[in-house]
Amino acid sequence: MKLSEMTRRVGVNDNTTQLFENQWTLPQGVSYNSYLVIGEKIALVDTVSGEFSQQYIENIKAEIGERPIDFLIVNHVEPDHSGLIGLIRTLYPEVTVVTNAKAVAMISGFQGVTDNVKVIKEGESLDLGGATLKFFMAPMVHWPETMVTYLVEEKILFSGDAFGCFGEVKESAIDGFEAYQEEMIRYYASIVGKYGVPVQAALKKLSGLDIDLICSTHGPVWKDDKSKVIAQYDMLSRYEGIRGTAIVADSMYGNTMQAAKTLEEDLKRKNIPCVLCDLSSDNMSFAYAAAFKYDSIAVGSPTYNGDILPTINDFMHGIKLRMLKNRRFVAFGSYSWAPASVKILNGMADELGFTRHPDGISFPHAYSAEKCDMGLLADWLENNA
Ligand code: FEO
Repeated sequence: MKLSEMTRRVGVNDNTTQLFENQWTLPQGVSYNSYLVIGEKIALVDTVSGEFSQQYIENIKAEIGERPIDFLIVNHVEPDHSGLIGLIRTLYPEVTVVTNAKAVAMISGFQGVTDNVKVIKEGESLDLGGATLKFFMAPMVHWPETMVTYLVEEKILFSGDAFGCFGEVKESAIDGFEAYQEEMIRYYASIVGKYGVPVQAALKKLSGLDIDLICSTHGPVWKDDKSKVIAQYDMLSRYEGIRGTAIVADSMYGNTMQAAKTLEEDLKRKNIPCVLCDLSSDNMSFAYAAAFKYDSIAVGSPTYNGDILPTINDFMHGIKLRMLKNRRFVAFGSYSWAPASVKILNGMADELGFTRHPDGISFPHAYSAEKCDMGLLADWLENNA
């Protein structure tokens, strides 16, 4: 698809993979975007995941026919983008791979390509004849070798994973931020969430560029919505949540889940936005997304083996790994003979530096409104923003 005089989108949609990175569910699929830049010479920016070779090559041929590709720009070596470097080298034996020093060993290790690799540095340019590509390093957005590429004449930023989102795209997809926003938050929280500081550094560096189009490796091309997308990434990477509560809970016999549902109803009555993630069935990515989206987190686990449930432990460990901060926190959960879960959750929240309800609610045996007044936690979440 023609994006501008010089650029074409040649990526593919993936609606068959169940789990991205074999971890994160894909109810709306995902796109792997790749772009051609056509000057006197032709550059291909990134490739796509390996299983889409036929569609990908058809897309390229539909745009340039039998013209050769002169340069393959490798912004990022994660296999969802580097998967067909070897095939491109086979079909276009004269192609020069253009990347940075940190990527060389990864390209060799993942794709076995070692020859005809041109190593460029920060701020260096590549002249395609009428089209100038300029390269900027963006380490840890999302791997250490990550860089972005800027087409000077048309002010187009090929941003790699930055500004990406889950969700398939129509071939002509440009903008549509509102439709993709939730899948952008889920993508960011699951995949890029740990790297808030590097994302902030990249945003600062790129703020000096005059950008007309943002071409990410996942999701639509951003044109009129690019300021919304940049603002969303800025907010997420500063770990700033909007008013609301992520309720994340799991339950053995339904008592802790009843408490979670009661909290959800109480918050809704107060017009406080919230989402309940039941980790017995929901993919963890939805819990991370909610925790990144909202400014407070309510976590529920029964006491199990004198500890918390494994799914809740995974969640708490996951937000710690992602260095989530600036959150308010409440804990709740049931127990049968020895209350431990709420105390443990409160200790974890303290380690994360969260502002928390002093006690939380720990209740014995079956749930009842008398034993477990979730309204107290809802009041605290309302009044301690
Ligand atoms: Fe879409 Fe970090 O690869």
